[in-house]
Amino acid sequence: MRVIRRVKEMVKAAERWRRRGATIGFVPTMGALHEGHLSLIRAARREHDVVVVSVFVNPLQFGPTEDFARYPRDLPRDARLAASEGTDVVFAPEASEMYPAGCCTRVEVEGLSHRLEGAMRPGHFRGVTTVVATLFHIVQPTTAYFGQKDYQQAAIIKRMVQDLRLPVRVRVLPTIRELDGLAMSSRHASLSQTERRQAGVLFRALTSAEDAIHDGERDPHRLRRRISRLIQQQPRLRVQAIAIVDAVTLEPVKALTGRVAILVAARLGRTRLIDNLLVDVT
Ligand code: PAJ
Repeated sequence: MRVIRRVKEMVKAAERWRRRGATIGFVPTMGALHEGHLSLIRAARREHDVVVVSVFVNPLQFGPTEDFARYPRDLPRDARLAASEGTDVVFAPEASEMYPAGCCTRVEVEGLSHRLEGAMRPGHFRGVTTVVATLFHIVQPTTAYFGQKDYQQAAIIKRMVQDLRLPVRVRVLPTIRELDGLAMSSRHASLSQTERRQAGVLFRALTSAEDAIHDGERDPHRLRRRISRLIQQQPRLRVQAIAIVDAVTLEPVKALTGRVAILVAARLGRTRLIDNLLVDVT
């Protein structure tokens, strides 16, 4: 496995593979790899000739009060883990190369980027779509892999690929969870033991909402109250948002029919947790 740090070198490698007719599976990450990331790498490995994993903590997607400086960074560990899953190249550029002096173009998916997470984190998704579009041009993947854990992010990226006719297939794979249901995240390392114990309630609240739907609940307001009540039972958790939306447009639904996504965001000490569940209402 090779670690490539220079954009030019990555472009050259991608062009060489493409000329040979090889397919490229690409997993963009910010590093601090865990089982969630590894599940994406495994799928890319199964389905492509070449696997590229990018590790880049993207300054553009962090707000001024967010944890860019504190975000965990350990490239040797990430490279080891990626290699153990059969990755061919870890692409880990410097910020100064991704965004050289004078670079001022941004990619923005309107509407979708400003709702839900986007409303709480202004500019966040603009940073995500800008870096992902740039990475796509550098790595030239056949398929790019994303996790359902970041549901809105995946929906926005699909929309960007569709609107810009980018020649990339987007695959969204299921959320990988800890034993208590907590969706794995690079940010959980900063939770205290007490906080960690309380974090599992997020998933329990989501599955309880799913059960209620299967038992006939069709009122989104009652469902939101149910989720909120369950989460608030944990004293350290502060609910930030509960949204029940159409799975594709992410518009709030008035009545529960078809495929809906239930999205939750909560604060636990200094850490922000998000999770979601897709439910087919029949
Ligand atoms: P990061 O948080 O490192 O996540 C990289 C990819 O792993 C994303 O597609 C995310 O949805 C997926 N992922 C994270 N936790 C997961 C879990 N528990 N189960 C399944 N998949 C999981 O998301 C980003 O980085 C960045 O915004 C990025 C797209 C790389 C752009 O900078």
